[in-house]
Amino acid sequence: MNATNPIFGPNRLKIGVFGLNGKGSAHTLVPEAYKPTWPNVLEAARLADGAGYEALVAYARWKGYIPGRVSHPAGIILDPFTFCAGLAQATTHAAVVTTSHAPTIHPIAAAKQCATIDVISGGRLGLNVVAGWNRPELEMFGAPLREHTDRYAHLAEWLAVIERLWTSEEEFDFEGEFFKVTGGMSMPGPVQRPRPPVMCAGGSDIGRRFACEHGDMCFILLHSEKPEDWARQIADYKTFAREEFGRTVQVWTYAPVVQRDTQEEADRYLQHYSVEMADEESLDGWISGNVANSKGQPSDVLSRMRRGLAAGGGGTRFVGTAEAIAAKLHELSDAGLDGILFTWVDFADGLRRMNRDILPLLEARGLRQPFRPASGHAA
Ligand SMILES: Cc1cc2nc3c(=O)[nH]c(=O)nc-3n(C[C@H](O)[C@H](O)[C@H](O)COP(=O)(O)O)c2cc1C
Repeated sequence: MNATNPIFGPNRLKIGVFGLNGKGSAHTLVPEAYKPTWPNVLEAARLADGAGYEALVAYARWKGYIPGRVSHPAGIILDPFTFCAGLAQATTHAAVVTTSHAPTIHPIAAAKQCATIDVISGGRLGLNVVAGWNRPELEMFGAPLREHTDRYAHLAEWLAVIERLWTSEEEFDFEGEFFKVTGGMSMPGPVQRPRPPVMCAGGSDIGRRFACEHGDMCFILLHSEKPEDWARQIADYKTFAREEFGRTVQVWTYAPVVQRDTQEEADRYLQHYSVEMADEESLDGWISGNVANSKGQPSDVLSRMRRGLAAGGGGTRFVGTAEAIAAKLHELSDAGLDGILFTWVDFADGLRRMNRDILPLLEARGLRQPFRPASGHAA
């Protein structure tokens, strides 16, 4: 499927970078924290692209988490569609994955923007479809944050319109519960056939169901550090997709990384940026905006969640030496994981360390092939 897109390439463990269009995921006040200026974006994106990473995933966020603080870093986010169009031109290998909140963009506009990025990138687009959870940003649009089930029903219809527009060779009418399209068409279609890959990252039961029905790259958060639990969680997911929808899906996860020469050094840096220099105000805002995940949680769970979020979120973290990180990645791959998106406090620094020290270990372990960039890397 889609030979132009490395998401479907041969590496047993696929890797990518999450969040280059904003501040990344950590809630920290350290001065070296990444800022999405275009030179910074290009530096990090090319470090990943030039080393053969499969995906650069941009997130969709319309405002930060602290009410009234318009210039807080959490609110400084480049638009993921135009960002991916720029990355498409600046890179030659990685999939450029944009994200859209269905309530904020009409599917006709999204379908055409996606097709345009697919054309620019020569068939490397991916689309992360999200329903939205951050009430204040949806309220800014006058769009309702629907109840969970309705959120995903709306998302399914939104995606159905996009897929019709991507594939239909004739004008069509569409009438659903949420959208009415008369004489729909969108040309050119995307380069990738039957369609560009769809990424889904819902964590609730309904979100997972949606991902199994519609996603190609499906995300889980690993809530255990035991390989046997990972294997069960991943196998359950793939089995559900196959049995319920007859579909084969890739299962990915997402994780912050702190790689240092010793475990002690890595632990110390984690403590520094996510505890001593935690951005408590931003954490307060995130937690109060994300009522569904925080409501009714006991205080120790909430406190653990807060520390995890400060470190960059995700279900697991990679904190240690290159050898330890490579070994954990190998265990995850053996547990059935297809891919992983990384995030760092300082992306360029993290990518340089990973490219230098971890990628050769992953190659030696047979998880990835050595990468030879196509000649004439985009200027
Ligand atoms: C890797 C990853 C990327 C995500 N990207 C976004 C995003 O860009 N914007 C957003 O509002 N939510 C994003 N989410 C949140 C999910 O789409 C989803 O809303 C959240 O996991 C809660 O799941 P639920 O909708 O099933 O309750 C992301 C989640 C993950 C794990």
